[in-house]
Parts: sequence; structure tokens; C-alpha cells
Amino acid sequence: MSEVGTARPRIEGRAKVTGRARYAADEPVEDLLHGWVVVSTVSRGRIRSIDTAAVLGMPGVLGVIDHRSAPRLNPEAGMFFGPDAGLLLLQDDVVPHAGRPVALVVAETLEQARAAAGALPVTYVEEPHDTAFSAEHPAARPALTIYGPDADVGDVDAELAASAVVVGARYRTPEQHCCAMEPHAVTAWWEGDRLQAIDANQGPFFAAGTLAALFSLRPDQVRVRSEHVGGGFGGKGGVGPQLILAVMAATRFGRPVRVALTREQVFLATSMRPATDQRVRIGADPDGRLRAIHHEPAYSVSPLAEYVENCAELTKTLYAATAIRTRLTAVPVDTLPPFSMRGPGATPGSFALESAVDEVAARLGLDPIELRLRNEPVVGPVSGLPFSGRNLVACLRDGARRFGWADRDHRPRTRREGPLLVGTGVAVASFSSGAIPSSAAITAEADGTFTVAIGATDIGTGARTALTAVAADALRVPAERIRLRIADSDLGFAWVAGGSRGTTSWSWAITEAAAAMRERLSDPERPLTVTADTAQAIGALEPKERHAFSAVFAEVAVDLATGEVRVRRLLGTFAVGRVVNPLTARSQLVGGMIMGLSMALHEEGVRDPVSGRHLNTDLAGYHIASHADVPEVEAHFVADHEPDDPSGLKGVGEIGTVSTAAAIANAVWHATGTRQRTLPLRLDRVLEVG
Ligand code: MOS
Repeated sequence: MSEVGTARPRIEGRAKVTGRARYAADEPVEDLLHGWVVVSTVSRGRIRSIDTAAVLGMPGVLGVIDHRSAPRLNPEAGMFFGPDAGLLLLQDDVVPHAGRPVALVVAETLEQARAAAGALPVTYVEEPHDTAFSAEHPAARPALTIYGPDADVGDVDAELAASAVVVGARYRTPEQHCCAMEPHAVTAWWEGDRLQAIDANQGPFFAAGTLAALFSLRPDQVRVRSEHVGGGFGGKGGVGPQLILAVMAATRFGRPVRVALTREQVFLATSMRPATDQRVRIGADPDGRLRAIHHEPAYSVSPLAEYVENCAELTKTLYAATAIRTRLTAVPVDTLPPFSMRGPGATPGSFALESAVDEVAARLGLDPIELRLRNEPVVGPVSGLPFSGRNLVACLRDGARRFGWADRDHRPRTRREGPLLVGTGVAVASFSSGAIPSSAAITAEADGTFTVAIGATDIGTGARTALTAVAADALRVPAERIRLRIADSDLGFAWVAGGSRGTTSWSWAITEAAAAMRERLSDPERPLTVTADTAQAIGALEPKERHAFSAVFAEVAVDLATGEVRVRRLLGTFAVGRVVNPLTARSQLVGGMIMGLSMALHEEGVRDPVSGRHLNTDLAGYHIASHADVPEVEAHFVADHEPDDPSGLKGVGEIGTVSTAAAIANAVWHATGTRQRTLPLRLDRVLEVG
């Protein structure tokens, strides 16, 4: 029997529920010191003074590290988007945003560090800040083209002029925060000239490399492990402030140091999804054929670091419009530097695009599913490249059948249940898939087991369990004979748990290593180790449009007297390639849809325009969907297979979130007859007065 395709509970499930699984702040370490981060209270300016002497006499305090005493970091260091000044903590007296770490207080106990940090006098020279993001901001400029250039297919203006129906609207999404259950934490120490860190991140190999660059160390001097990580969602995709500050302290005091951020500091000092402000114009013929799609998304960045929120991703993939134009714009403002979060780009982008497509269907009086079926592309609408596979039509048809779409009256505001208006909505999504070069090693042990070593991370998704299944099938042995080692930068180059590319990237490397091992199995020598690196195989792939696809259906009930929106049902159908573990994959998709629900109804980082500060920096103020908000959620798979992946895989990490907010907003329109173009769908926005 094939392990891939079989539902299995998580290998580490028992360790997690019994508390034996150790997270970054749990590791028992001798002689441990604790660091407490102090963050700026102003949005822009300079540090006037930090009175370290005032706390040095406090119980247990070893010292304070600030810009006057911190080691110099390498300004060239960065990760995916080039040099990243967001990482250059404690390098000068400049305060670039509220919540920027300005000092680390180090003490014998956590309580002593916290008390001293609370007592540390810090004063600032405030300077005017600008946190007022909008598409019209004078600093707006084209985004980096790291995900490809803007689309320019056909003559958008001419096609709009020739269209029977034109929808033009502006959509907004707020700053949002990843809110992993485990706050960012690290335990770091030196062993001789080798730095050791147990850190909460999504990719220890990348974290170690960036850390080495920052501190001007040789890569082999840094070892980062992340055995168990309590959620990531992009917010642990880079090097967090905890890691940089803990290394500074471990270096200075020559003892192991633990730094765990508070929930508030996770909001203030790690990363967020940027706010977006998106204009969309779509023109269509009376029969629903799309003539033009014009999508101009703007998003906020920080002057400290480049970041691309690729909101136009779906616009280049989903529809066979005659003309397609996208213009992705970045607007630098004085906030926390944004970074990837849960379907980065695609998620806010899909809210704009899939709302606008629904508006077109409504204007034409067409079933929004029928509209989509009439605009299915044969090749990439912008690239002209073939799709490796698509199956969006299968998602729509299967989802519609399961959801009971056929009975829908497409006119808005036609279903009442007492004081409630009821409506349904649909939206579709794509999310780019593929594999990123990674390496793996397999050792045939003397006892007949195989040790499979890969620098993967399991951030709670079930990666361990999935990779064990892939390794077992690739080696043609039962899963019991696989010993998986992951989450250690010493295991070599491997992609991060991100971009919906963890399982594809790691599985490919394991599959290649397993093939090499099977060739050597007659070799009597034991233990025997083989290694593989997928750079060449992945580099040799033909360029194609490779994506996972989905259709998400929502039913909502709206109380116009209170403005309350309740999601009653969510159903998603997914074409995500071959499914490695139906149990954990389904969990990821259901979780992703809940994140989309949360985005639709609740999540909003509120920034005070006067102080520039983020106001709701805790889970009481920053609302996330809780059990009471979550209705029946169903995730179904349609038969799908990625022909260019050795195991037929695409990815499930992010597509559950993408377009779910649009499906809900479309259902709210269907219930009420009013378009909501700003997220979240707050009571005050939905409330109908008079
Ligand atoms: Mo994801 S937002 O690529 O961790």
C-alpha cells in the first residue's frame, strides 16, 4: 500500500499534546540568561537617552545592550528581497517606526529582565512621521518585479471603451498580523566559536545563513534548529528580532541567552501583511466574455526593506480577457516593515479581483459560475505558456454540486429568515506551485532503518508525517523503517516552510536521494549515506503556468439592525495535485479557509494617525476568528496531479486562505444588495441606518 495518499495522524502528535515536544523557549539550558526587549514608543525620531545606569543595580541585571554597545551588523545582509535594514537592530539612534527594538535588558531571570526593562528610562527626540498609506501617496513607486513584470496584454482602454458593461471599483484591505500561537522565541549560545540557536522560524537553513551574514561569521559557524514551531504563516519566514538580539547578548555575556517576545512585541516588532488599496476595472460583453481587466494594487512598505505583496498574481492567471494590465505599486511609510502572511499578495489581491468579477456577473444578471466558465483560458492569459494542469472547472462544478448552488436565485436580497438576510457567494483562486532547489541525505543504517535528513521545518502543518510517507514510498519500505531528521541548518540547503512549497521542495530532494539509495542497496557496506540536490532537475523544467486552484463557496446571514455578519457555511474544492496526507492536508485547507473568514470579518491592525502607533496589539483588540465564529467548514479535493513533480504534488499551504474573503463578501452582497469593498466587514460598515 502506498503511504502517500493515506490519512495518518501526526507523528509528533502525542509529544505535542503531552508537552514533551520542546519549542524554542522550552529547551533546558544550563547557566541561562534572559533578555527582555525594549521597543520604541515613538513612530519616528531619534533616541535622546537610554539611562542604563538606572537599572544596572537592579537584582540580577547583567547589562543593557543598545545602539552604543551592540556589535556592528553587516548592512548587506538580507533574505529574499535583498539587503534588509529591518534586521539592523541597535545600530544607531534612529527610530524608523513605533515598536522598533531599542534595547535588550539581560538578567538572571525572566522576571528580573522584565522588571529592569520596565524601569529603563528611554527618551526620544520625536520627528514627524508619515504612516498614512494610500495609493495616491506621493512616495508611491513601482514595486520590484521579483515575481515578474506588470502585465500589458492588449489595449485595455480600447477594450473597456468597447465593453457593454464596465465595473470600476476600489478595494481596501488593512494591515494584518500572522498571530501564530507561539510568540517568537529563541535560545542561543556559543559552543567554542560556533553559534547555536534553537529558534522559532520557518527555515533554519535560511535563518542560519542570514544570521552568519549579519554577524560576519562563516556559514559553518552558525547552527540554527527549529524542531517544533507553533505556527508561522509567513511571520516566522525570516530572521526575527529575538534571534539577532539573543546572539548579541550571548556574545556579550558569554552565556546562553533566551529571548521570548511578548504578544504585543510580536505585533510591534516582527512583521505584518501590508495594507492594500486596489483599483480594478473590468469590461465585459453582454454574454459575459471579459474584454479587459485592469488591476492596480498599491501596498505599503517600509523604507527599511523591500517587500513585494504580489496582489496581481491571480489577475495574470485566472481569466482569458482580451486585454490585461496590472500595475503593482509600493508606498513607503513609517511602519513596521511588512512581510509575507498567509497567501501573500494573492489573498488581498483576490479580494479585489474576485469581488470585481462578482460585480460584473451581477451587472450582467449572470450566474457568477457561468461567467467564470465562459472565461476559462487555454494558456496563461499573460504568459502564453501552457498550464501544467488546471482543473478549476472541476473545482467549480464539484463545489457547486456539493454546496447546492443550482437552486440559487442570483438576484440580491431575496432570502429572508426573520430579521436576517441570507446570501451565498463564490470566488475562485489560484496559488503558484512548484519546487525550490533543496538537498537531502539518506543513510541506510545497519538495523535496516533509513535515516532521512532534510532541512525542512514542521510549523504545525504535518510536514514530518508527510515527508515520512514520501520517503517510505520512495525507498519502497514501510513508514516504520524511516527515521526523519529535520529542522537543523546542519542538514544542508533546503527551502523554508513557506510559499506553499515546503512539501514539494523537500519531497523532491528526498525522492532523488531515495533513487540514489536504491541503486546502492546491494552495496554491503553499512551505514551507507547518499545525498541529493534538486537544483539541476528543477532548473531543467520547462517554463509553464503551475498553480493550485480552488473554488470557495460561502453562505452568510446578515443582521442589518446590528451590522453583524455570520458565516453559516464555507465549502472549498481544491485542485492541489496529489494529496500526500488527506488528514493533515484537509486540516491545512480548513485552517486556511478559517483564516480567510477571519480576514473577512475581523482582522484589522488599527493605526492611530496622530501617534502613528499600532493600537490593537493584543488578541483582545486584534480579533481573530474563534470557535464561535467558525461554522461548518468543508474542504474537498478534486482529482489532480502535477505532471512535472516526481510525486505529482502542488501545495496546500496557502490556497485555502486565498479568495475566501471574497467569497464571503460576495455572499454579503447577495444577502444585502450592498457591496462591501473594504475589509474587514465590520459592523459599522454593514449596518444599514434608517
Ligand atoms: Mo508563507 S506567507 O509563504 O509562510
